[in-house]
Amino acid sequence: MQYRYRRLRSHPIFREAVAETRLSKDMFIYPCFVVPGKKVISPIAAMPGICRFSPDELVREAEKGMKLGINKILIFGTGEKKTRGAQASYSHGSVAATAIKSLKKYFGNELYIISDICLCAYTDHGHCGIVEHGIVHNDKSVDILAKMALSHARSGVDMVAPSDMMDGRVRAIRNILDNNGFENIPVMSYAAKFASAYYGPFREAASSAPQHGDRKTYQMDFRNGREAVKEALADEYEGADILMVKPALAYLDVIARLRRESLLPVACYNVSGEYSMVKAAARQGLVDERSIVMENMYAFARAGADIIISYHVKDLLEKKWL
Ligand code: PBG
Ligand code: ZN
Repeated sequence: MQYRYRRLRSHPIFREAVAETRLSKDMFIYPCFVVPGKKVISPIAAMPGICRFSPDELVREAEKGMKLGINKILIFGTGEKKTRGAQASYSHGSVAATAIKSLKKYFGNELYIISDICLCAYTDHGHCGIVEHGIVHNDKSVDILAKMALSHARSGVDMVAPSDMMDGRVRAIRNILDNNGFENIPVMSYAAKFASAYYGPFREAASSAPQHGDRKTYQMDFRNGREAVKEALADEYEGADILMVKPALAYLDVIARLRRESLLPVACYNVSGEYSMVKAAARQGLVDERSIVMENMYAFARAGADIIISYHVKDLLEKKWL
């Protein structure tokens, strides 16, 4: 008979043997929102199961996560004072810096802490950079982003992840880290970050929606695939250690392309809107959550992602889907 894979797949044991893609919990990074205060746990309406935590509560949440096997988290500071110059982003006492210090003190090297570097939660207009004469000023923004990265490094962060999409920020961050004795802190660059409607729920979570205009001048046009390669290779050249594609589901081709064009590890960010859509559909009984989530995760890995950042990580481990 001309049977092909079906012969191999007909026994569950051998079906596993010929599976081309595997997932392991080491691939996953759990994104977390931190807010100022104490004993604060505030649920995000658009993202069922996801909350903002004050630093003390984030320590407790991380402890629960670590019991499940989550050992890498990505931190977003939110709820800070918003100013023209985004000063809170690099202040020693920022909520992100405070959370990093508490987590490090509590967990030491058992927990790997990555921080998101961007200004949109700290500017009064909500753009990812410093605005002058109505436009985002690339180079002034890069200076502040570098200061923010340094402040997090001084607080003990293990890796920084710039998500602003300014040009030259990877090099500026690499330089400031190197010049201050942090040459071992890697940079995970949001290299191909598209201007996307899938960030909607995140902007509620971080109250970081731009008050005027949109992010289309600095985030990428979703019609452009070649440009993603150009952006990513430029970041690699500037010293990025990991290249990230964001969002993930609608950009599997970009993940696959970067996997081919670069030799660096490739990460993908399964963003808030992608999470919320799955949750909403599952809650209405339209799809089976576990099956959908696993299909998505395998798709990221099959496309070539070495690292997956996803809000589903907790469910994945807690419910033993993996
Ligand atoms: C900040 C940032 C955003 C996300 C990660 N970092 C929002 C944005 O660019 O508007 C989105 C993450 C998500 O949607 O889960 N620049
Ligand atoms: Zn931003």
